[in-house]
Amino acid sequence: MQLTHIEHIGIAVKSIEEQLPYYEGVLGLKCYNIEVVEDQKVKTAFFQIGQTKIELLEPTSEESTIAKFIEKRGEGVHHIAYATTNLSEALKDVEAKGVKLIDTQPRKGAEGLNIAFLYPKSTGSVLTELCEHPK
Ligand code: CO
Repeated sequence: MQLTHIEHIGIAVKSIEEQLPYYEGVLGLKCYNIEVVEDQKVKTAFFQIGQTKIELLEPTSEESTIAKFIEKRGEGVHHIAYATTNLSEALKDVEAKGVKLIDTQPRKGAEGLNIAFLYPKSTGSVLTELCEHPK
């Protein structure tokens, strides 16, 4: 498996709007896209910094895993996403090394990326996403 860079860091927030003054006003980043991902019941806001994005995740329903995360652990860093050039191969590779997968097959995430999550129990409690840009 070859990872190329940190694609994004996902941060769980109660309200994207309430966080904009920090990310835009203080850090000077520009929110270039806000997108609702229906099947994950989240609204996402993206900021680019170098090759990496900050992805704010706001729950759109109490059923959302992000809502449950905030309820349990409060707002804050939710996951780290590593970019790879071949996601299917990367999943086979980490699985062969004993990592439990949440997604055994790539699925569609925000911005059209192919994504898959690994079980935090296998990754030192850091929710980890592998992703690839569609070819
Ligand atoms: Co993500």
